[in-house]
Amino acid sequence: MGVQLKVLIPEAEIQKKVHELAHQLAEDYANKHPLALCILKGGWIFFADLIRAIGISVECDFLSVSSYGTGTVSSEKIRLRSELSSCPTGRDVLIVDDIADTGYTLHELQRLLYAQGAQDVRICVLLDKPERRKVPVHLDYVGFTLPDRFVVGYGLDYGEQYRHLSYIAILEN
Ligand code: IMP
Ligand code: MG
Repeated sequence: MGVQLKVLIPEAEIQKKVHELAHQLAEDYANKHPLALCILKGGWIFFADLIRAIGISVECDFLSVSSYGTGTVSSEKIRLRSELSSCPTGRDVLIVDDIADTGYTLHELQRLLYAQGAQDVRICVLLDKPERRKVPVHLDYVGFTLPDRFVVGYGLDYGEQYRHLSYIAILEN
């Protein structure tokens, strides 16, 4: 009877974790004025909460990235659908994304930013599914480690649905 949502991480737990991550970031980036890079669309809600919780001066930029396809399977090829408005050369860049799945997106973005002369490129994700990794990528800040299940909510979608949920849910058939 259609799909069902099962709550995996309730809103209060997400908010607690976001504040823990923000606290750590504020310490690590004190006096560094990092360039925080939100990966769209999935990273947008996490980014907004995280940046407001960090409480130090951070420059924000946005990059729209998609993997080909719209289902629950990631693609090896990523497509940049927008450009940075800031220059990453010499900067301490913090990539903020919703989830590390196969790793293709974050691996490629990190490579591109270093190729553009960034001084340091760290990665912060709310969620990590390590069992799914196809390419190695070092995650500097991770909110929750998940089993290999497709999740939605808090920015993550399935066919452009469910991004608005303030919790993370498993989509069950
Ligand atoms: P990658 O496979 O690590 O390159 O991840 C590519 C993108 O797929 C992520 O940034 C997410 O936007 C999306 N994605 C991966 N796993 C999930 C999931 O469980 N739910 C919703 N989107 C996902
Ligand atoms: Mg994404």
